[in-house]
Amino acid sequence: MLPDPLPRPAPIPPDEYRARRAALMARLPADSAVLLLGANLATRSRDSDYPFRQHSDLHYLSGFPEPDALLLLLPGRSEGESVLFCQDRDPALEAWTGIRLGAEGAVREHGVDQAFENAERDARLEALLDGRTTLYLLLDDEAALALAEEVRARLAARQRRGARPPRSFADLAPLLHEQRLIKSERELALMRHAAEISARAHVRAMRTARPGLAEYHLQAELEHEFRWHGGSGPAYASIVGGGANACVLHYIENDKPLRDGELVLVDAGAEFDLYAGDITRTFPVNGRFSDAQRSLYALVLEAQEHAVDAVRPGVTLSEIHDGVVHDLTAGLIRLGLLEGDVQARIEDESYKRFYLHSTSHWLGLDVHDVGDYRREGNPRPLEPGMVLTIEPGLYLPDAEDIPEAFRGIGIRIEDDVAVTAQGGEVLTAGVPKRIEDIEALMAD
Ligand code: GLY
Ligand code: MN
Ligand code: MN
Repeated sequence: MLPDPLPRPAPIPPDEYRARRAALMARLPADSAVLLLGANLATRSRDSDYPFRQHSDLHYLSGFPEPDALLLLLPGRSEGESVLFCQDRDPALEAWTGIRLGAEGAVREHGVDQAFENAERDARLEALLDGRTTLYLLLDDEAALALAEEVRARLAARQRRGARPPRSFADLAPLLHEQRLIKSERELALMRHAAEISARAHVRAMRTARPGLAEYHLQAELEHEFRWHGGSGPAYASIVGGGANACVLHYIENDKPLRDGELVLVDAGAEFDLYAGDITRTFPVNGRFSDAQRSLYALVLEAQEHAVDAVRPGVTLSEIHDGVVHDLTAGLIRLGLLEGDVQARIEDESYKRFYLHSTSHWLGLDVHDVGDYRREGNPRPLEPGMVLTIEPGLYLPDAEDIPEAFRGIGIRIEDDVAVTAQGGEVLTAGVPKRIEDIEALMAD
């Protein structure tokens, strides 16, 4: 019997998008403007496109779900501060790809002040941006830069007739991404849901695993669960790595057999309403950890639990990472995989042979979400509303100098944690990570 789908949390209402735009504009000079392009459809092959996924920044400021959109923010403009350009209504095309909202729908459903269809874009852009001294855009977006440059040149050509072209382009990313870093209550509700779906998917993969299946069978179970509960699918390419494939950090082929006696590392998360879940679990294909697997796993788990417990306002990600490095290095020495003194092995970085990535990244609309990791050159303290991952791992190469029982073992354990006033809320607690709990679930 398939389980009941989880109830969907409420989508972000137009009011919140309006408040986000207002908060951004409150930090911009009065004579500036924001120019932000949405995502376009991308061809997969010949007549097939990839499923459309909106640009995270345009989504954050508008919730507008269609390709080829352009959002302008014009602080202080009396006819409306937010102007959206969108696809033209076109009954012939809509018969193939569905109803388009058009200008009226964009205002009605998404609460922008004004909207126009793209057929009017060129004619209107100049007038809208005339007199805006600084133009904020994503400077790494070539299409946005080209568009801004084109409008600037057209205004410059009419300067003697009174047109006032923008004098400079400024990067929108730092301001907007700082805002995205702190999640609202409604965003947190969506992220809890993405995390809950992701956790259920991992439970399903654990229950399904057995020798003789292939990695893609677990991927199929995961992705079934994402979609079953209303997610759009995976938030990033699912990783299912059996045996030594777990040591390849971005292994996504997922096409090898799952073997008796080996571990499998699963790093997969659902996307829900464009928010990402990001979970890693590592478990034995046959449901029982061997002694060597158990001792390494216990070590990663201990480091991961300490790091999760350390999340609270004021702490920095670099302090959390240093704690993980300390725990892992001490454990590697205890197991005889490193020699000597913990501090010395941290200083000469010999632990990096087994742990080469960082412990955390921000999580939100993007799996590696936006927002600075540093403030004035220093690691920044955590604040309530930030969401991050905690994901230590150990990856033991298949090399002569590694004791045979440990060769080719890769283990990572990853949870998503929201920073609260009191500490941290683990969003992904729905999937077990303790050895006895995993074994009990797999024996069920
Ligand atoms: N799944 C990508 C990451 O864990 O960073
Ligand atoms: Mn991650
Ligand atoms: Mn991950």
